Amino acid sequence: MVATELDEVRAAAIAALEAAGDLTALEAARVAWLGKRGQISALMQRMGQLAAGERPAFGKAVNELKDEVSARLTARRATLEETARGARLAAERLDITLPGWPPRRGSLHPLTQTRREIEAIFQRMGFAVERGPEVESDYYNFEALNLPPDHPARDMQDTFYCGPGRVLRTHTSSVQGRVMARRAPPIQVIVPGRVYRRDSDHTHSPMFHQVEGLLVDREVSFGDLKGVLQGFTNQIFGASLPLRFRPSYFPFTEPSAEMDVECVVCGGRGCRVCGHTGWLEILGCGMVDPNVFTLAGYDPQAVSGFAFGMGIERIAMLRHAIPDLRLFFENDVRFLEQF
Ligand code: PHE
Repeated sequence: MVATELDEVRAAAIAALEAAGDLTALEAARVAWLGKRGQISALMQRMGQLAAGERPAFGKAVNELKDEVSARLTARRATLEETARGARLAAERLDITLPGWPPRRGSLHPLTQTRREIEAIFQRMGFAVERGPEVESDYYNFEALNLPPDHPARDMQDTFYCGPGRVLRTHTSSVQGRVMARRAPPIQVIVPGRVYRRDSDHTHSPMFHQVEGLLVDREVSFGDLKGVLQGFTNQIFGASLPLRFRPSYFPFTEPSAEMDVECVVCGGRGCRVCGHTGWLEILGCGMVDPNVFTLAGYDPQAVSGFAFGMGIERIAMLRHAIPDLRLFFENDVRFLEQF
């Protein structure tokens, strides 16, 4: 009778352990059967009700039952741990044959691309690339360019002053005097770089880019200037476009001109981009003023030359039909990755 009951307990306990589907359920089964208040402990407490002679055999049988159920528990725990580990490994599995996340490919800023193309075109025509400081002396930005301190033409450009006699250069023309101070003619350079003016709206940025050109030699003519600029425009716009030179004024050139190209958008018929004139203003230029040579220590009777200066943003906008100057400075990848 007692033996049958123990068999039933054993069977029920083992069934409970086997039924436990995970480690949490197994722990609950352990508490229910092997715990201090579990069913097997409860059997032990029945010892007192037995006759003295039956106790040793009963105690032994319950202990054996306890050992057996404990052994089953250990085995079941090992199985469940193994299953859990397998599931974890399967979940953490990395498929190293999957393609990676490619890093996003960058590209050169459209202004950098345009600047480099301008440089390459002039280099093919024999110009060397020069640079100069962005924080410039009043002397090189103005005085050396025939703009004495009280000259009214200083108002043409709203200047950022940054200390006594120091400015953020308002144009790359500031490098003309630096190059001439270092070298004797012949000179044939271009100067790309940043320039600064107190101006900010949808067509003006307080910082923008220019390329200056300076050629000094003997018997240089306005025809030479035109030839160089025609060669340049043909290459940068990829077509032999008509040019137009309008008389203008710069203190450091005489005569001075502004150069227009036939509108690259409408072919000269007139459109919104060219203000219905058929022409686009591209750059300022002229023959180097004799005063500039004198200030540089050159003999204006012996040498002559021309200079020009253009905005890189403007050229890039025309080449790529970019409608707003501010797009260059927002660094929105959706814009930048189109180039
Ligand atoms: N420095 C002038 C400007 O910024 C351009 C220019 C350069 C004109 C050289 C003539 C000669 O507008």
